[in-house]
Amino acid sequence: MELTITRTQNPAAKPADPSKAGFGTIFTDHIFEMDYTPDKGWHDARIVPIHDLQIHPGAAVFHYGAEVFEGLKAYRTPQGRVQMFRPWDNMQRMRDSAERIQLPDFDPDFMLEALKKLVALDQDWVPSVPGTSLYIRPVEICTDVDLGLHCIGSAKMLILLSPVGSYLAGGLRPVSILIEDHDVRAVRGGTGYAKCGGNYAAANRAAAKAEAKGYDQVLWLDGVNQKYIEEVGGMNVMFKIDGKIVTPALTGSVLPGITRRSCIQLLKDKGYEVEERLFSVEELVAALASGHLEEAWGCGTAAVISPIGKFCYQDKEYAIGDTNGETAQWLYDTLTGIQWGRIEDPYGWVCPVPETV
Ligand code: PLP
Ligand code: COI
Repeated sequence: MELTITRTQNPAAKPADPSKAGFGTIFTDHIFEMDYTPDKGWHDARIVPIHDLQIHPGAAVFHYGAEVFEGLKAYRTPQGRVQMFRPWDNMQRMRDSAERIQLPDFDPDFMLEALKKLVALDQDWVPSVPGTSLYIRPVEICTDVDLGLHCIGSAKMLILLSPVGSYLAGGLRPVSILIEDHDVRAVRGGTGYAKCGGNYAAANRAAAKAEAKGYDQVLWLDGVNQKYIEEVGGMNVMFKIDGKIVTPALTGSVLPGITRRSCIQLLKDKGYEVEERLFSVEELVAALASGHLEEAWGCGTAAVISPIGKFCYQDKEYAIGDTNGETAQWLYDTLTGIQWGRIEDPYGWVCPVPETV
């Protein structure tokens, strides 16, 4: 398929430091767009100036949440070049998410080439202030104008770019979490492993409760027993107990995080034993009470590595520590070192963006 490029005639002013503007509130000059219909397949792939979309109000995306998305980043290296982190994995996860919602599949190689061109075109938007990056948000939506519940026919793919700083206000610092014991985010057989908008809508009530009580994030328990720890709002979660790392297994209701996968590899290569298994709140509380819990942290693209300083469960607060733990700090330094090109990448995780379009 051909990809056409139309450059903006009105480039917007770039923020000197995007970390001052919240997360994902500023967008670059261009977006990628392509459309799908059953008769034509994917067509009209184009990079165009960012613009409002014209979509019929009867489109299924507005009524039944028929959409999936991704989140990855491009980073500016000390040499001034731009590189992405594991974009192949995001493309594959987006295909898996689309399959769950029955949105049309796409050619990941074509999408990656289009993404490289889009980032290359807007490369001046990739910030260089420490801790900042260009957040990349691919999204696929159903555009069928039909209020009946039917198989999906037509779709639209978009990629948006947004210069960002830290997701959690205050940068790398211990965060507080509320363990949610009423609402659930996902159940086995549901959509937990997919990155679809509905999962995040289902999380809103608990997130509002956490915020009202002064906690940064929600930690979700499994949807069957409300016993096993699953993940935090926008992050997977890891615990260090007696020198071993424990992280919830990917049971189907947890998002298979690319940062999680990267951390597991880095930790194993550093010599840590990593257990991917069911891990209950009871076990967490017991490990803390007996002095065996050494550290806890969340990990995700937007949030990077976020040490967990304290948590609240059934109205009781538990303190883990008010400084960044050494393993979380080491992971942060190593992961971001590879992402920003300060440390050599022995894994083949970084993907250079061409210097010209
Ligand atoms: N879990 C949830 C619910 C998320 O939204 C995210 C963020 O994408 C993650 C985990 C971490 O995934 P990744 O490391 O691929 O960003
Ligand atoms: C990401 O880390 O890419 C996410 O999608 C998390 C979101 C809550 C910003």
